[in-house]
Amino acid sequence: MKEHKQAVKSSYEVMTGTIVTKKKMTDQETYFEIQLAGVSDFNYDPGQFVMISVPGVGEAPISISSSPTRKGSFELVVRKAGTLTSALHALGTGDPVGIRGPFGRGFPIKKLKGKDLLFIGGGCGNIPLHSLITYVLDNRKNFGNLNILLGCKTPQTMLFVDELEQWENRPGVVVNKTVDQADAGWKGNVGLITKLIPGVDCDPSKTYSVIVGPPIMYKFVIQELLKKKFADDHIILSLERHMKCGVGKCGHCQIGDLYCCQEGPVFTYEEIKHNYEAL
Ligand SMILES: Cc1cc2nc3c(=O)[nH]c(=O)nc-3n(C[C@H](O)[C@H](O)[C@H](O)COP(=O)(O)OP(=O)(O)OC[C@H]3O[C@@H](n4cnc5c(N)ncnc54)[C@H](O)[C@@H]3O)c2cc1C
Ligand code: FES
Repeated sequence: MKEHKQAVKSSYEVMTGTIVTKKKMTDQETYFEIQLAGVSDFNYDPGQFVMISVPGVGEAPISISSSPTRKGSFELVVRKAGTLTSALHALGTGDPVGIRGPFGRGFPIKKLKGKDLLFIGGGCGNIPLHSLITYVLDNRKNFGNLNILLGCKTPQTMLFVDELEQWENRPGVVVNKTVDQADAGWKGNVGLITKLIPGVDCDPSKTYSVIVGPPIMYKFVIQELLKKKFADDHIILSLERHMKCGVGKCGHCQIGDLYCCQEGPVFTYEEIKHNYEAL
């Protein structure tokens, strides 16, 4: 983990971004495409996040939902949760925002190369997963079969709906969706995402599982993956903590002796399984 710490950029520098596209995705989530002024090459890894600020209001960590394979701008999907996120939702195209980052350790792309992948996303967890899945699909020949399990409360809260159909049509990609509460038009599964795991056709020795979702989801998903004989280091997850600085100074994001903003948010289960504050 030390090696990674050195590679992480630490910066208080605030860049000026402009909202170039804004789209309502669900009742609570809005999509923002952002361009940075005077930054020609904004490099990031899937799974990293930025600190976004609205002048006079504050700052919050938000995962980058786009893939670094798509150049020129980057994308965020933001749930209206409180002060900063509400102020962000009130902005429109052409409005400025502050951006620091990218921060944190993203998904271990090198390790995932050549492997089959099982993505498990719940609720807002589908936002950072979208970055990784888009990256993998843009570099399709470098990865094996993909199983994508996505869960959310209702059909209306499912994110990236238009793209899910395109993903399903790609060779070697299986997408399974589930909701807690269905409506008359819903054609997917109903119930917790854990119910889908036993039916996944994969060889755990050749597969990495990547999980992102609400805190309650991890324990039960991990139990199912362990039953399927996934090794601890083949289970990769992204943890969310309250963050202030994003650069390992304030301690808000600490999980035991780990700084989630720098050593995470992405960890393997092997790295955190003995840390009682992690899950
Ligand atoms: C690494 C990381 C990536 C994230 N990515 C996204 C993303 O892609 N999209 C998105 O919509 N949100 C994301 N979040 C969550 C987002 O940062 C919080 O919703 C946001 O900080 C709330 O700020 P606010 O000022 O609007 O709310 P506040 O007014 O500060 O708080 C409103 C409520 O939300 C709670 N809250 C604040 N921060 C968090 C948090 N980190 N976890 C749980 N509860 C929190 C507060 O306790 C309070 O109850 C991410 C968080 C982290 C740490
Ligand atoms: S957010 Fe300040 S130390 Fe991690």
